Amino acid sequence: GGLSRFNNMAMVDFTRAEHRAAFPAAISSVRAQLGKTYPLFINGREVTTSDTIPTVNPAKPSEVLGLICQAGIPEVEKAIAAAKSAFPAWRDTPPEVRAGYLLKAAEIARKRAFELSAWQVLEIGKQWDQAYADVAEAIDFLEYYAREMIRLGKPQRVGHAPGELNHYFYEPKGLAAIIAPWNFPLAISMGMASAAIVTGNPVVFKPSAITGIIGHHLVEIFREAGLPDGVFNFVPGRGSVMGDFLVDHPDISLIAFTGSMEVGLRIVERAAKVHPGQPNVKKIISEMGGKNAVIIDDDADLDEAVPHVLYSAFGFQGQKCSACSRLIVLDAVYDRFMERLLAMAKATSVGPSEDPAHYMGAVSDDKAMKSILEYINIGKQEGQVLYMSPTPQGEGFWVPMTIIGGIRPEHRLAQEEVFGPVLAVMRAKDFDQAIEWANSTRFALTGGIFSRSPEHLAQARRELRVGNLYINRNNTGALVQRQPFGGARMSGVGTKAGGPDYLLHFMDPRVVTENT
Ligand code: NAD
Ligand code: ALA
Repeated sequence: GGLSRFNNMAMVDFTRAEHRAAFPAAISSVRAQLGKTYPLFINGREVTTSDTIPTVNPAKPSEVLGLICQAGIPEVEKAIAAAKSAFPAWRDTPPEVRAGYLLKAAEIARKRAFELSAWQVLEIGKQWDQAYADVAEAIDFLEYYAREMIRLGKPQRVGHAPGELNHYFYEPKGLAAIIAPWNFPLAISMGMASAAIVTGNPVVFKPSAITGIIGHHLVEIFREAGLPDGVFNFVPGRGSVMGDFLVDHPDISLIAFTGSMEVGLRIVERAAKVHPGQPNVKKIISEMGGKNAVIIDDDADLDEAVPHVLYSAFGFQGQKCSACSRLIVLDAVYDRFMERLLAMAKATSVGPSEDPAHYMGAVSDDKAMKSILEYINIGKQEGQVLYMSPTPQGEGFWVPMTIIGGIRPEHRLAQEEVFGPVLAVMRAKDFDQAIEWANSTRFALTGGIFSRSPEHLAQARRELRVGNLYINRNNTGALVQRQPFGGARMSGVGTKAGGPDYLLHFMDPRVVTENT
């Protein structure tokens, strides 16, 4: 018997009639469920609050999808207390039993894959394939971390001196706060939460405010999987109200955060302070933003590079930490490449993601729309607009697909994460300058290069110092196990989600030595 080898879940396949039909059907069935109130989940029980926040369809904000109960400080305190009482038994539950809950959760999510995807189309404006990829990644995390825990859960014998027996094994750190972004609302939340759970750390989970319903899907999945009470607690709440309280709490031993650099660094700083009664030095996993560059070498295969760059920059409206936001094109190929890129950009359209005809949908919310439009204005001053797409009239958080040329390393558009559909184009005189510019930000998340020169590819492997470098392909959509994902410098603390070291960050190693 035993578990099959890990395999990534297959992508959605629109050449199959049943997959094509599944999306409109799932979207209508989700629409029939709108308007519910989503409670918190603490110690195995639903908790409602009078304070709620609506979540809306970004392509049609008048469409309210549901109301999300908001945790204040008293609810966070209760969730932490529940996790604390669940800790001893969960810590001592055998690793393979903990892994079993993840496998069960994966099975539940797989059965609901189209419905979970449809919620993403409506709540955060993902295109059909992007939505399904997020759900598939969540399932991959569950399947992969279950297997990883089984691998790491067996004590290893270390050393070979006669007369002694040394066992090396891992234990959970304690209570985990999981703080998630909205852009991969199921996958990143599920990845961080399931890693904490399977390693034996009870979880207090805070989703992003704008994807509260998708956040609540974790409750549904883990409840159905039968996780013991208190092991997974759901406390959506305002970052400004309960974020610091959760981070500062002495009973929290581990914080897994994914989001912006500003919030990530704030958490790193605050968590360094030891409060009275605190049992552990807090461990911080902080995955933050990017300003990712793709280099187009003078011998690049342009037929390949053009669609990959467009997809990396504008898939899901450029709202991926991995997205290409700087395009560095060598002077010798600049005119030929840009002519083709702009032609392809002009052939796409922007509109609601529930219609698969559109390449790009609405951005996440009103705040993001304003901030991106402001960056477009900055870009107009720093460089020249090469392309700005039309956008739908009327309601919705619409931002044009925007390509701005003439950007240099000192410009804000070359340094600051816009987190939207804005591509800054830089014209480099030669390959060395392209590499130097690519490395010239404080971030180091993803990077890409299109080239056919073995010397240049070797130089890029050595010198493009990013967490995930992609050669002759798009630089988004890292797959669990195949492309362990995460950055360095101000992009992250060097943890790789979906990789062989990830679970180690959630545990403390112990050694028992016996004189035999
Ligand atoms: P964000 O930093 O605004 O919010 C992330 C989470 O932190 C949310 O749940 C938010 O409510 C919470 N929060 C806000 N203030 C807090 C506080 N004081 N204390 C504790 N929690 C607080 O980020 P976002 O807008 O949700 O996501 C987009 C950002 O995430 C981008 O910068 C993107 O690059 C980054 N991101 C990084 C990765 C990665 O793996 N490196 C992956 C996805 C997204
Ligand atoms: N893991 C996500 C990607 O690679 C962020 O696009």
